[in-house]
Amino acid sequence: MRLSWLAFCMNAILASAGPLKPARHTCQTDLACPKGTVIVSKTDSSAHFTTVQDAILSLPNDNTTQTILILPGTYKEQLNVTRSGPVTLLGQTDDPTDATKNKVTITWAQANHDNTGQSVDNVFSSVLTVAPTLEASYSGSGPTGYPVPADTPFGNVDFRVYNIDFRNTWSEYSDGPAHAISFSRANGGFYYCGFYSYQDTVYVGKLGNAYFHKNIIAGQTDFLYGFGTAWVQSSEILLRGCGGGITAWKGTNTTFTNNYGVYIADSSVRAANESIAPSIKGQCALGRPWNSLHRSIFARTSEDASIAPTGYIDWVVDGQSRLTKDTIMAEYQITGPGFNATGRRAGNVTIVMTDREYARYNSPAKVFQHPNGRPGNINWIDWTLDTN
Ligand SMILES: *[C@@H]1O[C@H](CO)[C@@H](O)[C@H](O)[C@H]1NC(C)=O
Ligand SMILES: *[C@@H]1O[C@H](CO)[C@@H](O)[C@H](O)[C@H]1NC(C)=O
Ligand SMILES: *[C@@H]1O[C@H](CO)[C@@H](O)[C@H](O)[C@H]1NC(C)=O
Ligand SMILES: *[C@@H]1O[C@H](CO)[C@@H](O)[C@H](O)[C@H]1NC(C)=O
Ligand SMILES: *[C@@H]1O[C@H](CO)[C@@H](O)[C@H](O)[C@H]1NC(C)=O
Ligand SMILES: *[C@@H]1O[C@H](CO)[C@@H](O)[C@H](O)[C@H]1NC(C)=O
Repeated sequence: MRLSWLAFCMNAILASAGPLKPARHTCQTDLACPKGTVIVSKTDSSAHFTTVQDAILSLPNDNTTQTILILPGTYKEQLNVTRSGPVTLLGQTDDPTDATKNKVTITWAQANHDNTGQSVDNVFSSVLTVAPTLEASYSGSGPTGYPVPADTPFGNVDFRVYNIDFRNTWSEYSDGPAHAISFSRANGGFYYCGFYSYQDTVYVGKLGNAYFHKNIIAGQTDFLYGFGTAWVQSSEILLRGCGGGITAWKGTNTTFTNNYGVYIADSSVRAANESIAPSIKGQCALGRPWNSLHRSIFARTSEDASIAPTGYIDWVVDGQSRLTKDTIMAEYQITGPGFNATGRRAGNVTIVMTDREYARYNSPAKVFQHPNGRPGNINWIDWTLDTN
């Protein structure tokens, strides 16, 4: 059943007696939710569904805004959102602004191969997939990846997730791509979420626009990768080992000037815990070019001693370097022991940007583009978050 109107009003009155809270908080903490909110729980008999995917499949295929509230628990399932209308997934929590206190976990254990070595496209490993079609979500291979048909419609225009952890538990070390998320041809914001695996954890595919705010992103190898545009704001990037680099992007030539790439701002990059820190000291690369048009920038971010003296590294295949004058592997105003100015200069792969060089990329409004290249595609980002 849906929340009764009476319960909704009672909760709204109770909630309004306290200090004013954002609407999503009252839903997450007091069950005072927008009318029509779909509730998921494995154990609570008042819930509409016991799996998140059944709740997703129950949403009407139209342009209405839909909200799903997930009650505390661990849900072992793969999620797949093809709907284009706005969708918000809320994890119930006592602490809506702290990802370390999340009570909802979606988990699955899969890589892009099985134990016999048979492999499939990386998307099949994902805990969460958001894309309008299967082809739109393929990463494919080669410098330009899977050729997604040009007439593929755009997918979700406004996808939002709050306080949910996504964990791919295939292995406890890099053992091939194991996505926590695959996000293509869609706009989406992730707030106080966690993404955990070891390799290729967060994939932002073609025409994917993904914004991450105060998230925890933990991995070992190429764990922020893709073709689209990702902005990681005020988040924790946790190194569970070193391998490849943190970022691995494939850029695309377009008729307009594009800003496809991954932008990390005001964040922290560090060893996942104190036991692993000594063994990865000076070993982890910030990124490596998945193709020559790789673009990634770490800005105003602190780096612990895990980072290699050169910062980024090259990716040499068959003796061929992928570095060209168009490869952008950059840092801007970095603090912490991971920034070694001598090492960066000696390595000659990391660009240390000036204010002027960074200016083109210094806000989500500049980098998130509409599919036709027009900038300022940011109406789907939640700008009403608390500042705490
Ligand atoms: C949803 O909105 C788009 C334009 O934003 C429109 O083309 C489409 O027909 C709408 N779909 C439905 C089911 O109303
Ligand atoms: C997601 O669902 C769509 C629609 O049912 C399906 O075509 C597609 O194969 C699914 N994607 C994955 C990765 O399973
Ligand atoms: C530290 O992180 C590593 C890598 O994820 C993990 O294997 C290990 O169990 C963690 N140790 C502790 C004490 O949490
Ligand atoms: C982009 O264009 C350059 C110059 O024409 C070409 O060398 C490169 O292979 C292209 N890269 C991709 C990924 O399309
Ligand atoms: C910084 O880089 C230089 C040159 O690679 C290296 O000699 C030095 O040991 C590095 N310093 C630290 C603290 O890692
Ligand atoms: C740095 O690398 C570029 C090519 O990426 C090369 O042209 C330049 O000579 C190198 N500089 C040094 C000091 O090695």
